[in-house]
Amino acid sequence: MKMPRYGLGLISNEPVGCSLDGVEGLSPAMNSHEASSPCTRRRRRSRTVARRILGSFLAVMLAFAVTVGWGVVAQRRTARDSELLRSGYLPLVLSVDAALENQNLVSAQLNHITEAKNPADARQWIETARRLRPRIFERIRQSATSKVLTSTDGKARQMSDQIVAASGELEAFLAEDRAMLASLFEALETADAPRAKVLRDGVMAHEIAGARRTRVLKEQVESEMDQRIAAARDRERRALHSLLLLAGLTLLVGFGMTLYARRVLRPLAAVTDRARAVAAGDLTSQKVVAARDEIGELAATFESMVEAISKANEARLQSERLAAVGRMAAHVTHEIRNPLSSIGLNLELLEDELAPVNGSDEPKQLLQAIRRQVDHLSALSEEYLRLARPPQSRLEAEGLPEMVREVSSFVRPELDKAGIELNLELPEQASDVWLDEQQIRQVLVNLIRNAREAMSKGGKLRIAMHEFEQWAELWVEDTGPGIADDVRMNIFDPFYTTKNRGTGLGLAITRQVIDSHGGSIHCEPVEPHGTRFRIRLRRADVADR
Ligand SMILES: Nc1ncnc2c1ncn2[C@@H]1O[C@H](COP(=O)(O)OP(=O)(O)OP(=O)(O)O)[C@@H](O)[C@H]1O
Ligand SMILES: [Mg+2]
Repeated sequence: MKMPRYGLGLISNEPVGCSLDGVEGLSPAMNSHEASSPCTRRRRRSRTVARRILGSFLAVMLAFAVTVGWGVVAQRRTARDSELLRSGYLPLVLSVDAALENQNLVSAQLNHITEAKNPADARQWIETARRLRPRIFERIRQSATSKVLTSTDGKARQMSDQIVAASGELEAFLAEDRAMLASLFEALETADAPRAKVLRDGVMAHEIAGARRTRVLKEQVESEMDQRIAAARDRERRALHSLLLLAGLTLLVGFGMTLYARRVLRPLAAVTDRARAVAAGDLTSQKVVAARDEIGELAATFESMVEAISKANEARLQSERLAAVGRMAAHVTHEIRNPLSSIGLNLELLEDELAPVNGSDEPKQLLQAIRRQVDHLSALSEEYLRLARPPQSRLEAEGLPEMVREVSSFVRPELDKAGIELNLELPEQASDVWLDEQQIRQVLVNLIRNAREAMSKGGKLRIAMHEFEQWAELWVEDTGPGIADDVRMNIFDPFYTTKNRGTGLGLAITRQVIDSHGGSIHCEPVEPHGTRFRIRLRRADVADR
């Protein structure tokens, strides 16, 4: 296998990509780039970073709102329970208690009334106390029917009804001994001690029975109150637990959302690293950060910017190289072209004047061999000159298929001789293309010659053309051995060749020409083996986009 070399060994072997497309993503065959192009990513962007962070924030806020809401509900319940106890049960229990006190007072006075020195005092106490009773029972009923009790819940209302009914019955019951009491006072006034004792015992028994019923009433209210307090305590404990749980959950949600936000923003670090690497000079193309948001879009845009910089760099390097080559070529050409042409002229003269020596043509043949080498050197210097001072392309709207047919018929004998089958796949009707006829002819010859040289044992050469959007694309495809990836990177460099007698200028000039046409040239492998060159030229009938 031949080692690649640079024709003059002057140009450094910098890696230069062979993809020279001026415009990407236009051919269906080349659409692989489009998948990651910034505009596609913009279309694909579905969840923006702001929306996702806002979503996290809302989730935390929601968890917080639930916790606070629950706290408020629990507090309101506690406040309602306190209000119920303070304005409902407490006045009720106090009023029932007042009734009990009243009855105790009456009972106490009755207890000593028969032995009292002055029973009139006791009678006054008893009568005063009994006069107060309707008001006391009225207070019980008012407390039992207070708004706070009747509007709270069914249980409180039920108790309220029971108390109202029971207090009414109790009041009536207590009033039943009125006649007996009057008789007692009468007996005391008349100092009828035995009768007074009997009557006093009767009234006492009635009062005691009343006090018992009042106590039952009080106990009922107190028990209701205790139940309420116990339920409130229970509720408070549960509310506290729930609040703690919800607060924990809120913390968890907040923590989770912080992690999520960090994950969302993590690709930024990758973009930053990439920017640092680029700043340090790494312009090789990299995989784009796979985030479908602004960060992904930023990464994709950044990558395409790096790609553009890399291409511009490459183009600058190439033109610097060409300029260096040009200066040298101009110098060399200047120095050797004139001596070469006089050597050529002199050789012609010599050939004409040289007679056969001893009947042998050998001297003449030697002169012819020298002339061939001189011609080769002249041609070489012409090539250098062409590279050094590329002629300006004069673009005209021309038919590409016709030109391909003409060049093909020109090279066909040469291809036949090399055992190469030429297949043309050209459209009958095609739009005109902007081209400089001479230069594109040269391009075609270069590519066909390379293909022929690659298929030294014969093969197939296919030249196809098709149109899409503003482009006419020409494929020159051979079934040669193909080009190794590391070689393909350099084939457009001036003086890069793998051939013994190659100049390495064919593809450099070809690319220069295509560039000056505003088109592109791309080299790719063909399965199972072979090489395809794809050239794009602008159609004359479609305005540029
Ligand atoms: N169709 C092809 N198949 C295989 N290799 C190719 C083909 N075309 C070009 N190459 C490779 O690209 C290199 C550069 O080609 P280029 O035409 O620039 O120079 P060259 O053919 O070597 O020299 P010259 O054109 O002066 O004869 C070649 O040496 C060869 O290795
Ligand atoms: Mg060549």
